[in-house]
Amino acid sequence: MKDNKLYIVMVGLPARGKSTISIKIQETFRKNHIPTMIFNNGNLRRKHRPTKETYHAGFYDPENKPAVELRKKFALININRAKKYLRSKGQIAILDATNVSRKRRELIEEHLNDHPVLFIECINNDKEILDLSITQKTKMPEFNHLDQDSAIKNFLERIRYYEMIYTPLWDEKNFIKIDSLNNKLLKERVSDHISYYSRIRDFLVTDIVKNLFLIRHTETYFNLEDRIGGDPELTQMGKMQAIALARFFKNKKLSFIFTSQTKRTVQTAEPIKKLQQDCTIVPLKEFNEIDGGICDSMTYQEIRERMPEIYLARKADKYNYIYPQGEGYVTMKGRVEKGIKKALYLNRNSDNIMIVGHRGLNRMILAHFLYRRNEDVPYIYIPQDKFYHITATQDRKLFQLKKYE
Ligand code: F6P
Repeated sequence: MKDNKLYIVMVGLPARGKSTISIKIQETFRKNHIPTMIFNNGNLRRKHRPTKETYHAGFYDPENKPAVELRKKFALININRAKKYLRSKGQIAILDATNVSRKRRELIEEHLNDHPVLFIECINNDKEILDLSITQKTKMPEFNHLDQDSAIKNFLERIRYYEMIYTPLWDEKNFIKIDSLNNKLLKERVSDHISYYSRIRDFLVTDIVKNLFLIRHTETYFNLEDRIGGDPELTQMGKMQAIALARFFKNKKLSFIFTSQTKRTVQTAEPIKKLQQDCTIVPLKEFNEIDGGICDSMTYQEIRERMPEIYLARKADKYNYIYPQGEGYVTMKGRVEKGIKKALYLNRNSDNIMIVGHRGLNRMILAHFLYRRNEDVPYIYIPQDKFYHITATQDRKLFQLKKYE
């Protein structure tokens, strides 16, 4: 018989995106009137044992018997609550915890035997992303008593303890392993009939953005002359445009502003950050503008006059043309997509995300969400006095070009 109740059990080391996925799954199902509830072991522990003892990394040491018992106790409370929830009106119960040991998962399977259990393992070992995620994690109130360096050390130690008992999913009946940075399914095995499976699977591989504000840096000295690339500063006008952007976005809460590594995007982001409460500018190399190679810092007119072969070849096939010693749209694609994944991952706990980029770069970012034909990408309109507001969720896709002044 078809069973439309389901347990979802998250698996993975700390800071791998488990809670974000849980929250988003809950949100999606609730929006579709499917009663869903998250049971989070960490929140339960923080509520009932808000003491330094449980915030110390040694609390996660597999050899620390009393702590192991206490954590098992919290896990069992949530297991029983989840079971009770599905016995009443609940349809989907999500157990959000590390659940990295086979022993813990056996405990879960043993107790949750009345409906299918789907394990979702989140994997992400990108060093740069992990460092940034861990720094974010250490801003949680439980690390208030430590300075940032000690908090990071403490968190890394906690991760090492979990690594000691980590057994990847394999023996479980139903599971999905997901690269949570790239939204890529690494392995799936489903033996039971799970009614929501295709919805969950599709959800896991979709880039979800509620509000992406895609901005092009404001006016620079190079823009005045139609010069490409380089690392120019903003003009007076550009600085005023940046202030106008800051005022416009003042009431939209931004945790991060992602930029390229050039002055013009960082200078555009700075006034915006200033009017925010707690916002970090993250310059990513992946968001640098198309590299003009030997043409860098030249005007379009100069290229046309001095290197007509380059001008003509690019005109003939702008998407596939690669500047000598530089890039083309075609070769930018991989790195830009990597940048998008990084930005979405780091920003995963917030509904708003801002990228301050460049003309070529922003075309590639738009193309990622818009599915434009390659030959049309290098011509997408990217003005400096407007920005794109993009929404891309499982059931809503929206692209709006808006003025900020
Ligand atoms: O603002 C100029 C610029 O960002 C250059 O740095 C870059 O080479 C160019 O736009 C990309 O646009 P196109 O591909 O149309 O030359």
